[in-house]
This record gives sequence, C-alpha cells and structure tokens, in this order.
Amino acid sequence: MLLENSKWITYPNYEDETICPVFRKKFDVQEKIKGATLKITSLGCYVAELGGERIGDFIFAPGWTFYKRAQMQQYDVTSLIANKNELRVTIGAGWYKGRINIRNRMELPQIHPAMICELEITLENGKKDVIVSDESWECSLSKITMSDIYDGEHYDANFEESFGPVALQDCSYVEIIKQQGEKIIEQDTLRPHRIFKTPKGETLIDFNQNLTGYFEIELDAKKGDRVSFSVCEVLDKDGNFYNENYRSAKSEFEYICKEGHQIHKPRLSFWGFRYIKVNSFPDELTLNSVKAIVVHSDIKRTGYLQSSSPLLNKLFKNIAWGQKGNFLDVPTDCPQRDERLGWTGDAQVFVKTASYNYDVEKFFDKWLNDLLLEQQREGLIPFCVPQVHERPGSSTAAWSDASTVCPWQMYLTYGNTKILKRQFKSMCTYVDEIGKITKKKDLWYGCWHFGDWLGLDAPSGSYVGSTSLDIIGTAFYAYSTSLVVKAGKVLNRNVSKYERLYERIINKAKKEFTEYKTQTECVLALYFGLTDNKEAVAEQLANMLIENGKRLQTGFVGTPYLLHALSQNGYTELAYDILLQENYPSWLFSVKQGATTIWEHWDGVNDKGEFWSKDMNSFNHYAYGSVADWVYGVACGIQTVEEHPGFEKVVICPHPTKRLDYLSARIETRYGQLSSAWYKESDSFRYEITTPTDATVIIEGKEYHLSKGSYVF
Ligand code: BGC
Repeated sequence: MLLENSKWITYPNYEDETICPVFRKKFDVQEKIKGATLKITSLGCYVAELGGERIGDFIFAPGWTFYKRAQMQQYDVTSLIANKNELRVTIGAGWYKGRINIRNRMELPQIHPAMICELEITLENGKKDVIVSDESWECSLSKITMSDIYDGEHYDANFEESFGPVALQDCSYVEIIKQQGEKIIEQDTLRPHRIFKTPKGETLIDFNQNLTGYFEIELDAKKGDRVSFSVCEVLDKDGNFYNENYRSAKSEFEYICKEGHQIHKPRLSFWGFRYIKVNSFPDELTLNSVKAIVVHSDIKRTGYLQSSSPLLNKLFKNIAWGQKGNFLDVPTDCPQRDERLGWTGDAQVFVKTASYNYDVEKFFDKWLNDLLLEQQREGLIPFCVPQVHERPGSSTAAWSDASTVCPWQMYLTYGNTKILKRQFKSMCTYVDEIGKITKKKDLWYGCWHFGDWLGLDAPSGSYVGSTSLDIIGTAFYAYSTSLVVKAGKVLNRNVSKYERLYERIINKAKKEFTEYKTQTECVLALYFGLTDNKEAVAEQLANMLIENGKRLQTGFVGTPYLLHALSQNGYTELAYDILLQENYPSWLFSVKQGATTIWEHWDGVNDKGEFWSKDMNSFNHYAYGSVADWVYGVACGIQTVEEHPGFEKVVICPHPTKRLDYLSARIETRYGQLSSAWYKESDSFRYEITTPTDATVIIEGKEYHLSKGSYVF
C-alpha cells in the first residue's frame, strides 16, 4: 500500500468546497542530507511548496482519475531542504469536489478535499527522517479565497493566514496508485496580440489564439487595488465581448493586490479563452501586463501535415490546438463551458488523429484504465470517464465504443498489446451488454443513443441529426464486435463466438436496413459494411452531397467516416470537394470565419456573424478535427498494418489531387520518421516517401516493396 504510514488530512471547517486550505509542517534538519523525496496525492488538486518554492511542474496534480483512485506523485526535493523548513500544501476542489463533479457530490457527501503525503529525508550517515501528514500538521485558509474549475479563481494577496489544527478524514475507499498518465504542465506562453476597445467600450486583450490555460499578470499597484478579468472565445457580431456559450461556468479571475510591484498567476483553475475582458486593472495596461500560459498534458508532438493551401494549413493548426486544449489529463469535449468532461464519444472519434499528431500512448493508458474501472462498477460504459453524471440506463453507440476503438488504436499506432490485453475483457463485456439490451437479436435495436449528434439534418430545435438510431447502433455493434475479434486474435484468444456474432450482425443488418435516408446512414452502411449494394449506396451518398452543393450534413457519428466512405468507393475527388469546401457547412468555413481551433458546431458562427445557439456552442471541441486521419491515411496514404502494428511495417498509398500543389504528412513513429508527400508537376505527380521500416508503397495502382529509406517516384 502506498503512503501507508500517512494520514489523510483536511480542513476542519469546510463551509463550501471553493475554499482552498493550506496545510503546513515546520521542521528542522540539523545534519547534512543525501537526498529527500516527497510522495503526495490529494482529493482535489494540490500545490506543494518547500522553502517558498513550488515543488515540481505538474499543474493540477494529482490529475483526474476514476473517483476511487488517486495518482501519487513522487518528487526529488533534495535541493529545497534547508536547516529550517516549511512544507506547505494548498488544495482546491479541482475535479474531485468542484462543481464539475455533480454525481460524487451526491454519493460521497462527507468527503471534502484532502491531502496525504510523506517526506523522506536521507541523511549522509544513512539514517532516514520521515515526515508524514497527520494530526501534527496545521492548516489555515489561504490567499486563494475561491477556486473552482468552472467558476475561476479569486486571490487576495493581503489575506492573513491563521493556523489551527487539521482534521483527519477517512478516505479508505480511495486506492492510491502510482502516477500512470502524463503530467499536465505549462507548455507555452503567449503575449497579447493586441489590446483594443469594443463598440460597447469594453477593454479587451486578444491573444489571437483560442487556448486552454491561465494568465500571468505583472503590475505596480496599491495595497487593496483589484484586478478583475472575464474571458471569452469569440466576439459577437458587433465585435463585443460574448461568453453566453460558457453557460453557468463563471470563469472569473479576481486578484486583490499587495503594495508595490507584483506578478501573479492562478494555480488551481483554468480557462478556455482567446480574449480577456479587463473589468479592472489598476496599473497602465500594456502588452507586457498580461501573458497567457498554455497548459496541457505533457504529450509530445509527433505528426505534421502541410499543404500548398494556406486555409488547409490553418485547419491543420487548429486541429493541433484543439487537441492541446482538450488533452488535460483526460480527453475532454471542451475547455471552457460547464462541461470539460471526458466524453467517451469525442475521444473515440478523434483517437486516431490524436495518436498521429501526438504521442498519446501513456495518456490513453491511464484514461482507458479508468474507463475499465467505471465499467466494472456500472456494468456499462458511461458517457464520460471519469463518470460524473447520473448513471445512464445503458451503454450508448459511438460513445461507449471508446472501450473498443481506443485500445485498438493504441495497438495500431504504438503496437501496444499491454493495453489491449488489460482492456480485452472490457471490450467483450461491452459487446455482450449490447446483446442483452437490444430489442432485436443481432442488431442494436430499439435503444436510446445520442445519435448523429449535432448533425445538420436534425429536426428544428434538436441536437440530434435525423439518422436512424438503429442503424447507428447496429453499425457500432458490428464495428466493436469486429474489433473484439481482431484484438482476440492478436492475444491468441478464442473469439469464434464473436466471429459468428459479427457475421450474424452484418447479415441481419443487410436485411433489416434496406434504404438509407441521410448522408450519415449511407456513410455508416458503406464504412461498416452493412450493405451489399456498395456502388448504389455510394452513388446515393455522392448525389446527396452534390445536390447539397457538395456540402455535408453529418454530425459526430457520420463525419469521421464521410471522406473515407467516399474515397473507398471511387469518389476521392468528391472527398476533396468536401475537404476543400469553403462555404458553410465545412471545415474551411470555420477557418475563413477566423477560427483558431475546431468548432463544436459547423454553424458555431454563421456568415452573418450570428451564433447558432448559446447552449451547445463551444469553439474548442476537437471532434471534427478527426478529418486529419483521412489526410494522413488517404490523401497522403500512410496506413498501419494490423499484423505489424506500431508502424513496424507500413502501407503507403497516396491519393493526390490536382487542386493542391502539394501535400505532405510526417509521423515520428517508434521506428523513426515516416513521411509521405506529393507534388503536382505539369501533368503528373512526384511522390517523396521516407520509411523507417519495410513498406508496401502503392503509387497510382503500382505496388513496390521497399525497405527502410527515402524514395522518389
Ligand atoms: C458534449 C459533447 C458530447 C455530447 C453528448 C455534449 O454536451 O459537449 O461533445 O459528446 O454532449 O452528446
């Protein structure tokens, strides 16, 4: 057991969860030391300091996990130990007890944010001094007078701490585990792009980039002066501040100054924003007064797309920013409004792109472990992991499939069989669950689903596109069953039961669903093999798109496979039409509207500058960024090989178009750099390919078997 000699300590007078107590322990070290290690975790987020210095660079530690486990961090603090020491730990409600956790609040009402730690000091003479959290610690309210992930943070630099005894708390239901995921760290700093006045007379700071993080202010002030900011992602059609799309998330920032020169940044909350509205700033406001600090999980960039089209390049950048803004320990839907949750559907849709753009193996390892624990507890895959909602009635298509799709993608991109092995039972359980809840055997029929979420063919007033829920359910039933079969074969398991099930689903679907009324229905039928009439369905899809001005209507479920369904069936040029479409609705429409991230809704802002809704209108939602996997995988043609995962072998089969002068994709794989680029020449294409391993390259129908190296065709 980790930290077995330490006790969980909390603040004795929690009135509400937005207070941020600080715990302290003073101690002397008389002898020379060899080393010192702090092991710590908390319910809520903590900031630990020794000798006035922050320990480590993990922001919002210990991260966000299944609510019955907490990751423990370990820090080498040797250089921070002096003769006289004060170890301080400030905690905020964070994901644990903040407003974000609606459900546990009901289930675990007695549990407050709390902290547990152990500091081990090894002296030069080999002896060890161990300081553990227990009743000998003291606590006080802190200068952070309010913190909540949704509502922001208040800080009073003049607040006088007053220390008293701590309370002990029974947190025995929480399992302390070693750090499993990536830590979240400060990644980048942005200076303001401009400071300007809106028509309403508001003072706004524009960072020219929608981002996730916080801000650092620097100013001269008098004691008691106040700094107050509000934030937003976009301006309204008149160019004024607009944040109704944050819904109930107050996202405040307040700072009460001390006397003189000061620098401050929040520590226990984050904001999704591009603009800051300056409600109050006592000093002269210049471009040097504020900077934005971008935070996200410490994932390494591995994939790059580049083309001759500036609009497309901006889209590629926006996709990467969408990922950065939403990979905050958990893959979240958005970073700004009162959600910021680990929505399973969004993660499932985006995981392939995510794993090409960045190294997310460790990130998903932790999240999938939490998904598995949620499933064990609930018997279903919840909407969000960690689960914060009321228990849903059952799993739901395209969302719960994160349980099969994500482990499989970790296998394909990284060759990771460990995750696959750990998740395999969960994958089977999920597929078995569908068999139990469906109203028609061998289909996923008659059940509730989110559906083609935000599809543009939704009836007015609804978020759900018109695609049949039974077709969606059945398509994903087939898809997940096929992944169980594939995973089982990799793991040498007997999956004949699932092979037979897969066949039955497909055969039954072909009989049950004989016509397709929406773009997404056609896409699903084609991509998931639910039809024998591929040619006719592909033609129908093509006609639907053409009649709609070569524009899509698909939502979360259809969009990720739309271009694939086209290019797999002889409509690659039409796929490019959709990708390069600049009119609403399209990816490049948002780019032309000035987007710097991916929008939740095709119509986030329309061409008149109006918002489609204030309820469901995030401007930083990565899901539709999944289009990048078509660019990597089809346009540039980089494909994994199931029998040789992790790019141990590759297939490269580019699909160029004359409408671009060039397109290139580069992925830093475990075996080295892999790239595929094509350039338009007078009436042909030049292809440049670099492969770190054996590759099958297919150029304009001709197959070449190559070994590691760089090639030009
Ligand atoms: C979230 C989505 C999520 C959806 C479920 C929304 O509120 O922002 O991204 O997948 O709910 O349909």
